[in-house]
Amino acid sequence: MVAISNGKKGTNLHILAEFTSEVASLRRQYSNTGLTNHQLPDDPMELFNKWFKEAISSGVPEPNAMTLATVDETGLPNARTVLMKGIGESTIRFFTNYESRKAAEIRYNSTVACVFWWVELERQVRLRGKAIKVSEKESEEYFKSRPRESQMGAWASKQSSMVKNREELEKRFSEIREQYENRDLLKPPFWGGYEITITQMEFWQGRPGRLHDRILYEKTEQTWNRKRLMP
Ligand SMILES: Cc1cc2nc3c(=O)[nH]c(=O)nc-3n(C[C@H](O)[C@H](O)[C@H](O)COP(=O)(O)O)c2cc1C
Repeated sequence: MVAISNGKKGTNLHILAEFTSEVASLRRQYSNTGLTNHQLPDDPMELFNKWFKEAISSGVPEPNAMTLATVDETGLPNARTVLMKGIGESTIRFFTNYESRKAAEIRYNSTVACVFWWVELERQVRLRGKAIKVSEKESEEYFKSRPRESQMGAWASKQSSMVKNREELEKRFSEIREQYENRDLLKPPFWGGYEITITQMEFWQGRPGRLHDRILYEKTEQTWNRKRLMP
């Protein structure tokens, strides 16, 4: 809002006011079924798997897209979307470039947070945990399963580095295409997966009157503790 107070102040403020009231009036009545205590499993991964399957069957676009938050070396937060590509016993996985901004931040502080928002189901899942690299073998296996275009993209992109212009990026891609014509692409050494071992998980279900359900699971040595939070 501060940035608006220059040059064409009057007009911009007018637009801003209209926009603000429009955004403020965006309100959805959450009416889905709730999360009653007897529905809650001891293991949050059971509920996560159930919700994830329901997100897929309900036609949520990109149900495996999640916001991944990290912190940088100065303690500032950073967030971006990645695709979850695997669910384990108390883990989830995603794949990326090991020389990217996010990878540098995970090296600095391996604790990350993730958020899924499945709007059609009025559900949010938040989690926190530690990220470590998955084995080279497993990353290779996943890389092999990717479409060829994505494999070439992984080689062509020095993710998070500056590029002079679009042409330069496309040139890099064409060079990779020529180099690997009629050849399989191996996984680049700078590309692979991270596995997040989950220590906290919160399930949020929209309910009428803003009385949403929030169930927080926290990992102890052996089991999971569970509590209900105010919305
Ligand atoms: C829907 C969606 C899915 C994405 N999936 C991935 C992914 O799985 N891995 C990845 O490295 N980047 C993915 N990206 C791009 C990231 O959001 C981000 O731009 C990129 O990873 C660079 O982030 P960084 O500079 O913080 O490392 C995705 C973006 C969107 C919008």
